Amino acid sequence: MTDAIDLLFSAHLQHVQALADRALEREGYDGLVVYSGRPGLHFLDDHGPAFKANPHFLHWAPLQEAPDCFVRYLPGRRPQLVFHQPADYWHKPPTVPTAAWTREFDLTVIREPADARGLLDAGNRRLACIGEPPAEFAEWGFSATNPAGLLAYLHYDRAAKTPYELACMREASRLGAVGHVAAAAAYRAGASEFEVHQAYCSAVGLREQELPYGNIIAFGEGAAILHYTTLGRRRDVPRPTFLIDAGAQFRGYASDITRTHVADAAGTDPTFLELMAAMEKLQLELCAAVQPGFDYREIHLLAHRLIAGALVQAGVVTGCTAEQAAENGVSGVFFPHGIGHLLGIQVHDVAGLAADDSGRTEIPRPTGHRYLRLTRRLEPGVVVTIEPGLYFIDLLLDEAQQNGLGRYIAWDVVRRLQPYGGIRIEDDVACTASGTPENLTRDAFARIA
Ligand code: GLY
Ligand code: MN
Ligand code: MN
Repeated sequence: MTDAIDLLFSAHLQHVQALADRALEREGYDGLVVYSGRPGLHFLDDHGPAFKANPHFLHWAPLQEAPDCFVRYLPGRRPQLVFHQPADYWHKPPTVPTAAWTREFDLTVIREPADARGLLDAGNRRLACIGEPPAEFAEWGFSATNPAGLLAYLHYDRAAKTPYELACMREASRLGAVGHVAAAAAYRAGASEFEVHQAYCSAVGLREQELPYGNIIAFGEGAAILHYTTLGRRRDVPRPTFLIDAGAQFRGYASDITRTHVADAAGTDPTFLELMAAMEKLQLELCAAVQPGFDYREIHLLAHRLIAGALVQAGVVTGCTAEQAAENGVSGVFFPHGIGHLLGIQVHDVAGLAADDSGRTEIPRPTGHRYLRLTRRLEPGVVVTIEPGLYFIDLLLDEAQQNGLGRYIAWDVVRRLQPYGGIRIEDDVACTASGTPENLTRDAFARIA
């Protein structure tokens, strides 16, 4: 059966091929072999971490659970998919794909990885291999493995998505939104963090290892830990707030979504509610700045000014203006991460700092903003996250007390708000040619409402 996304795949693959054509020509190779990868083992164990396919392989073929597979591409020819289906009675061998997208490839099934060697046949061609090659590939005649110039070219272009990729990300966003709604219901029903996580996975229909990143599910003070993935098992813990940063994936493409909830508005400190409302408003303002030609660093700096404004307005920061708080480092005490990043096959997608496709130069981060992952100008098709945050983090508050910034902080207010942990709101936003951004996340929540 062909669905709407399949209809877009062919044009996507043509784009990937054209990209490979240019990259191979520039770097002086005759062809490309993209290896899906092989699962590893834990130290001294016969079990290993969940398999994660090479993102370059996923760019060509939506096969997330297919180790030891290859795409071989020679410019001007149909791409070849070498699919490894071992004769194995211990595990279920991967099913040979038959979906509509496979019609774009010449597909060959092999039983042993070594059988690929003859099919990939470097001969006297200069083939570049991309992936984590096992030792035996050294004998296979590839001219280079992961050559930096080739990777830089391919990575740079991955920022702007094809219509197929955007369709996959819309679906990943829909799945994520479904999970968020189920998780919020579980929280309200009294579930533990771990149980909320289970409710999320069930609703999304993905195993934990199929999620694009470990779910961050935090009650109260846990929300002040940026990557809190502990998943407490107890229900009888303080739970005045619930921060959930959880995504989903579809055909290898990710969503990355954060929402913050309060248990009971009537019982919540009005200053915290005021900050919640301010964050919601400023997050939307930042999403609206996702426009072609816009320097993403400016969005990050704007976020600092707006969050500083919210902190001053709520009386958390005193003795300076919002502008001063954004300049002197006080906003960074409460908002210590970047405003977002590129999103795609990888949650923190590649080449966020690249000045161009050569891989030789990076666009610097603004001074003092070392965690910003994206410094490029936006262009149509690029998908970014917009994730302003505001937290009460002991470590950073202690630092502020030491370094003099503490004089701008209303400590009585901070101490009152610390049990709430913090606030983060994160949407996935596509930059469009029209200038009106497409908010994949908000659209997804609206669609399932
Ligand atoms: N979920 C990780 C991030 O928001 O970047
Ligand atoms: Mn993110
Ligand atoms: Mn996130």
